[in-house]
Amino acid sequence: ESSRDAVLYVNGVRRVLPDGLAHLTLLEYLRDIGLTGTKLGCGEGGCGACTVMVSHYNEVLKKCVHYAVNACLAPLYSVEGMHIITVEGVGSRKSGLHPVQESLARSHGSQCGFCTPGFIMSMYALLRSSELPPTEEQIEECLAGNLCRCTGYRPIIDAFQVFAKTDDAFYTNTSSSDLQSGEFLCPSTGKPCSCKSKGLNGAETCKKSTANEHNYEPVSYSEVDGSTYTDKELIFPPELLLR
Ligand code: FES
Ligand code: FES
Repeated sequence: ESSRDAVLYVNGVRRVLPDGLAHLTLLEYLRDIGLTGTKLGCGEGGCGACTVMVSHYNEVLKKCVHYAVNACLAPLYSVEGMHIITVEGVGSRKSGLHPVQESLARSHGSQCGFCTPGFIMSMYALLRSSELPPTEEQIEECLAGNLCRCTGYRPIIDAFQVFAKTDDAFYTNTSSSDLQSGEFLCPSTGKPCSCKSKGLNGAETCKKSTANEHNYEPVSYSEVDGSTYTDKELIFPPELLLR
């Protein structure tokens, strides 16, 4: 390996790109290395099934920026020096679902499932790139490039609206660091609660929550950014800051 090698990271794993792959799209590369959660739908930027998150260090802004990208349109070498997160890097049944995945599943926002990784990645990229909780309009807008043939969209939109900034009962600014010892955020209400449920991955749900008008159990934004999930979120690889 030399210092001139093309390097990228995929889901936190460093990968050196050999020469001779200029004909590959990022989507073909990801699927070739076994990450088949990212789907090929149209192959021309129209359906969003191939959406991944691309992160890179922006020299002008002096910070990492995150974008949802159609992997079917991105030439592989165009993401050299960047960090790619695919749906496998967000969460799984084995490692624990991310709140975005959990919420979509609970609201029945996935039927055949083909579009699901793309929707997850669009929403995940929006949350990672927003310093404040997004608005409902921003959430709808971020899903505009994702098509679904099965659900009619309403369950998907509903699933993700729990991450929106809103005054309703499902949103809280509370983070785990604000909680008294022994207290924790209830996965049903997103508020401090003594229901003793074990969080999003626990089998139990909050029996104390009476405000659940929807057919899913909302999760709070604070669980995505700053609370229970934080230690699992993939960080930007330090090596790429130096390139
Ligand atoms: Fe349809 Fe990429 S496969 S946008
Ligand atoms: Fe089938 Fe969306 S769940 S295409």
